[in-house]
Amino acid sequence: MFNYKIGIDCIDWQQLFQIYDEVGLVAGYGKKKDHDKICKAFEQSYKVVTAWRNEKLIGAARMLSDGVCYGMIFDVGVLPEYQKLGIGKGLIAGLLKENEHLCIHLTSTFGNEEFYRKLGFKHHKTAFAKYPYDSDYLA
Ligand SMILES: CC(C)(COP(=O)(O)OP(=O)(O)OC[C@H]1O[C@@H](n2cnc3c(N)ncnc32)[C@H](O)[C@@H]1OP(=O)(O)O)[C@@H](O)C(=O)NCCC(=O)NCCS
Repeated sequence: MFNYKIGIDCIDWQQLFQIYDEVGLVAGYGKKKDHDKICKAFEQSYKVVTAWRNEKLIGAARMLSDGVCYGMIFDVGVLPEYQKLGIGKGLIAGLLKENEHLCIHLTSTFGNEEFYRKLGFKHHKTAFAKYPYDSDYLA
């Protein structure tokens, strides 16, 4: 029903921008519809996974990593009309494949913590973050 692709060569950028126009993410550049920044962020990522229904791009996620120790997952986004169909789970599985040796860090958006918990992620007791802007995510 859905298929997943790795890398950015397959990406139809207008369709990718559409996802983040709808769900936000990408450090606020999604909400601002700053497509150049989104494009550059994806191009410079370690691994990108996209979800497709035929020719329609319906979800995307990316990982930053050194490939040796750590990986960070960001911007897991599924078009609202395709959510709760297992696509987010498939995107994460695609990012983790062949990266099982890495310690993976991520932050959830509010309300989606259970999604990550169900996929086996644990709450990090001492995680810290520093943003160049005010954020409701920082205590
Ligand atoms: C969060 C998001 C990526 C989840 O993707 P999805 O395709 O809807 O999730 P899936 O269908 O793969 O869900 C996998 C499991 O998590 C559960 N789940 C998904 N979102 C959930 C939520 N918000 N609260 C509780 N459970 C949730 C599903 O019910 C499913 O459970 P099951 O395996 O027992 O059936 C998607 O809702 C989304 O794009 N949200 C907007 C953008 C966003 O905030 N992304 C998170 C960035 S950190």
